[in-house]
Amino acid sequence: MFGYMRTDMLYPELFKQLESVRWDMDKDIPWDRFDASLLSEEQAQTIKMNAITEWAALPATEMFLRDNRNDSDFSAFMSIWFFEEQKHSLVLMEYLRRFRPDLVPTEEELHQIRFEFDPAPALETLMLHFCGEIRLNHWYRRAAEWHTEPVIRHIYQTLSQDEARHGGAYLRYMKRAIGKFGVEAQAAFAKVGVLMASARRTAQALHPTNLHVNKALFPRDTIQSRLPNPEWLEHWLDQQIRFDAVWENKVVDRILHNLSLLMDRSFKSVQELNRYRKELQASLAPGGAAPSAA
Ligand SMILES: [Fe+2]
Ligand SMILES: [Fe+2]
Repeated sequence: MFGYMRTDMLYPELFKQLESVRWDMDKDIPWDRFDASLLSEEQAQTIKMNAITEWAALPATEMFLRDNRNDSDFSAFMSIWFFEEQKHSLVLMEYLRRFRPDLVPTEEELHQIRFEFDPAPALETLMLHFCGEIRLNHWYRRAAEWHTEPVIRHIYQTLSQDEARHGGAYLRYMKRAIGKFGVEAQAAFAKVGVLMASARRTAQALHPTNLHVNKALFPRDTIQSRLPNPEWLEHWLDQQIRFDAVWENKVVDRILHNLSLLMDRSFKSVQELNRYRKELQASLAPGGAAPSAA
């Protein structure tokens, strides 16, 4: 189809792939199955917070475009990612508009989370978002189980599949980056991978929306801190969808599995990945030797 293009750009192929599985807001969400008796007040409140969190794709896209000015292929792909993430926010707001109009976020509440992120290394941001998509895929699978109302359950299942596909697209760009930048890319991915797969050992949920991204605005420089209810995410994870150690392990396993494929080397634990990270660091130092593929 795109054979006429003398290019190894990923954007044309990802566009085609993602368009072929894209869902329709009106036709593919079973709005008429709504059952008000199965939606509790606390469940409805979480949908509002989640709608605002998904809106964070706006400042994230601004960051991606700024920090990837030298990469037009990836920047073009951002148009797809941005569209689909904004649609996630929109479908949650549409749900509230239909069934709990009092909870639809205001434009000001949405605008509150649009702030400038500090510049960051593009390869690390890429890996951060890859891990973020994997994590979100699992969070939304749990959210679909926790909710009792059929329409919102369907919406969370739909979103979780989109997040998995986003992870797959970012993985393609990571693979391309290793081809282009070699050890430098591998080191960036291993570094962020160790951080992102260590969530059990940290107090806070490790997701891009929960990280400090603007020193000047600290401590109100995470997306979560700028929500109407900044405590929402931790409460949602711990008390509501109960994202426990079993689920956390699934996230870590997915990250390690994909990094194993990407680096052509098996990582069975975060510790193994951390050892590899140190090897890569050493080889990047002047006079360092390239790490072996075990
Ligand atoms: Fe999303
Ligand atoms: Fe996503």
